[in-house]
Amino acid sequence: MYDYLLGGVQNFEADREAARQLLQAFPDAADTARSNRLFLSRAVRTLAEDGICQFLDLGSGIPTQGNVHEIAQAIDPAIRVLYVDIDPVAVVASNQILMGNPACRAIEADFTHPHLILDALTAGDLSNVIDLDRPTALLYCSVLQLVSDDLIDSVVAPIRDRLVPGSALVISHPGTAVTDGYDESSLSSVAEVYRTKAAAEIVMRSDDQLAALFKGFTFMEPGLVSINEWRPELGEPDPYVSKSMPSPMRGAVAVRY
Ligand SMILES: C[S@@+](CC[C@H](N)C(=O)[O-])C[C@H]1O[C@@H](n2cnc3c(N)ncnc32)[C@H](O)[C@@H]1O
Repeated sequence: MYDYLLGGVQNFEADREAARQLLQAFPDAADTARSNRLFLSRAVRTLAEDGICQFLDLGSGIPTQGNVHEIAQAIDPAIRVLYVDIDPVAVVASNQILMGNPACRAIEADFTHPHLILDALTAGDLSNVIDLDRPTALLYCSVLQLVSDDLIDSVVAPIRDRLVPGSALVISHPGTAVTDGYDESSLSSVAEVYRTKAAAEIVMRSDDQLAALFKGFTFMEPGLVSINEWRPELGEPDPYVSKSMPSPMRGAVAVRY
């Protein structure tokens, strides 16, 4: 669905039909997806320019325009990226575009089992991609809304708390700070599309709940905001620039000192 909304070609008719239903319930869905990718680009560029040399992208998705390794390696070709996704299509497509780029890799794994990901990073040759004893940028972009409130801390804390000083955490996430202004019926239609077409329950979170996910980290300016408001001057114009309401996605970049 996300790939189709971004204008990609790695999707099936069932994905397109689900995305069309989502667009009926929430006509901004494609702009929200595009805005999310633009936020991710600005965050990665900022962190690469600040000298972070390795990126761990959890729920990385199907490769699209402006992939993390392309943005980061344009600043420093030695930057290493590990993409992690539960979807084998995303992993195969990612490894295809990473051929000839030994500093980067994609693996199939479930980020809701963080201890398995930590084990994978310390065993075998993945430690050549991500060395957790060095500053690492951990990316959770548009993924944690798939995790229920009772699990969210146990999903995020193990990897977040393992990161050494100098590391960074990037999260984008649908937030009630904006969606509380939407009408109830369109929100429940969106939830219904995800429930019936993607077997997923979407959890919107308040700014307080999102801020708690950054425990131990300090926000970079401008803090936790609608993602189109995060350093917009660093990238190309966001689709929300001409809309009356900001993106429903809230996001921040934070650093461990
Ligand atoms: C909306 S896309 C976001 C892609 C990318 N992070 C971005 O911001 O553009 C969500 C991705 O998360 C992946 N995903 C969902 N649940 C996951 C899980 N438990 N473990 C790993 N990946 C997961 C999906 O397969 C999908 O590729």
